[in-house]
Amino acid sequence: MPGLEGPSDYSKEPPRHPCLQINAKEPFNAEPPRSLLVSSYVTPVDLFYKRNHGPIPIVDDLERYCFSISGLIKNPKKLFMKDIWMLPKYNVAATLQCAGNRRTAMSKTRKVKGVGWDVSALGNAVWGGAKLADVLELVGIPNLTSTTQSGGKHVEFVSIDKCKEENGGPYKASIPLSQATNPDADVLLAYEMNGETLNRDHGYPLRVVVPGIIGARSVKWIDSINIIAEECQGFFMQKDYKMFPPTVDWDNINWASRRPQMDFPVQSVICSLEDVNTIKPGKVKISGYAVSGGGRGIERVDVSIDGGKTWMEASRYQKTGIPYIADGINSDKWAWVLFEVTVDVTQSTEIVAKAVDIASNVQPEKVEDIWNLRGILNTSWHRVQVRVGHSNM
Ligand code: MTE
Repeated sequence: MPGLEGPSDYSKEPPRHPCLQINAKEPFNAEPPRSLLVSSYVTPVDLFYKRNHGPIPIVDDLERYCFSISGLIKNPKKLFMKDIWMLPKYNVAATLQCAGNRRTAMSKTRKVKGVGWDVSALGNAVWGGAKLADVLELVGIPNLTSTTQSGGKHVEFVSIDKCKEENGGPYKASIPLSQATNPDADVLLAYEMNGETLNRDHGYPLRVVVPGIIGARSVKWIDSINIIAEECQGFFMQKDYKMFPPTVDWDNINWASRRPQMDFPVQSVICSLEDVNTIKPGKVKISGYAVSGGGRGIERVDVSIDGGKTWMEASRYQKTGIPYIADGINSDKWAWVLFEVTVDVTQSTEIVAKAVDIASNVQPEKVEDIWNLRGILNTSWHRVQVRVGHSNM
C-alpha cells in the first residue's frame, strides 16, 4: 500500500531506551529490567517490550497511507487515517503479553526453541483508537456477526514487515469475526499508546490490539485486512504459537493437530527480586504483576516464603484511589494488577507467587508439567531464591 514501506535491512531502525535488555538485535527484541517494569501501572512507551520478526516499517507519507478491507464481503474499501480518526475514539487499558514471556526459565528445565525472555515480555498500556467493530461496519458488516453472507468467518490482519519465517513475506494473523465485530471485546485499530501517537516500534501508524489474548495476534503496521472463511494460514498462526504437550518434540510434531493459541492463562511474577538474591534478615517488600486472559480479573495473589508450603494473600491494585475488585465496573478488565506484600524473612528460602483469576484458574506449580517445545505460556509458580546474609549489605 502507498505511504508504508517494509525495509529489507536493519539500517533504519528507530532509537531505543538504553535500559532495555536486548534478547535479539536483528530483528529487535527487548524487555525492560523487572524492577522497572512494575514501577508504574501504565508502562512507559520506551520501556514497553518490543517484539519484532523483521525490520521496522517506515511511513513515508501519512496522508497517502491507506489499507484495504476486502475478501468475503460485498463492499471492499480502502481506508485512510482520516477515515479512522473520524470514528469514535476509545481508550482501552490492556496488557499485551508475548506468549514467549518467561521462556528462558522454561528452557532451564529442557531446552526450547525461540527468543529467550525473562519476565518482562509484557506491558500495560492505554491504547487509543477506533473499535474494529466500528471499522467493519464501514464495509457493511454489522456488529455481532459471526459469518458474512459470503461465508467470511475470520478477520485476517496483514502487515508489511519482511519476516524470514514467512520467506520474506509479511507478518499476519487472524481472529474470529465474532470477536472482531463484538464491541464489548474492545478490539482496536490503535493509533495511540499512552496518549501519544503510536511510535514505529509499536506499529505506527496503525496496529491491531486484541485485549486478553497472546500478543502475537495484535498485528502492527496494518497493510490490509481480509475477511476469510478459515483462520489465517500464515506461519505465526499455523507453525508457531501453538501449545503442545510435554511429550511432543521436533521429531513427532504435527502442527495441524493443535489450534492456534488465543487467550493467555493466568500469570503472576515477582519483580522486586531477581532469580537469586542476597538480602538482610527482616522485612522485605515483595511486589510484582498478575494478569489473566479473556478479560478475567485477578481474584487473588498468594505469596509464600517457604517454597509453597504456606501462603499469605498480597494486596492488589490498579489505579490510585479506585479500589480494585476483580470483576468490578471500575476495574480495567483487560489490564494487569500490581501486587505487594511485606514479609519477614529470617533465613535463606524460596519465595513464590501464584495468582488466581475470577474463574478460579490458578497457575500450575511446576514448569515441567507445561513444558512445550516452543517454550510458550510459562505460567508456572514464579520462584525466587533468597540467601540471607548478615554482614556488609
Ligand atoms: N506485528 C507485526 N507486523 N510483526 C511482528 O513481528 N509481533 C507480534 C505482535 N505483532 C509482530 C506483530 C508479537 S509476537 C507480539 S508479542 C506483539 O506484536 C508485540 O508488540 P510490541 O512490540 O508492540 O510490544
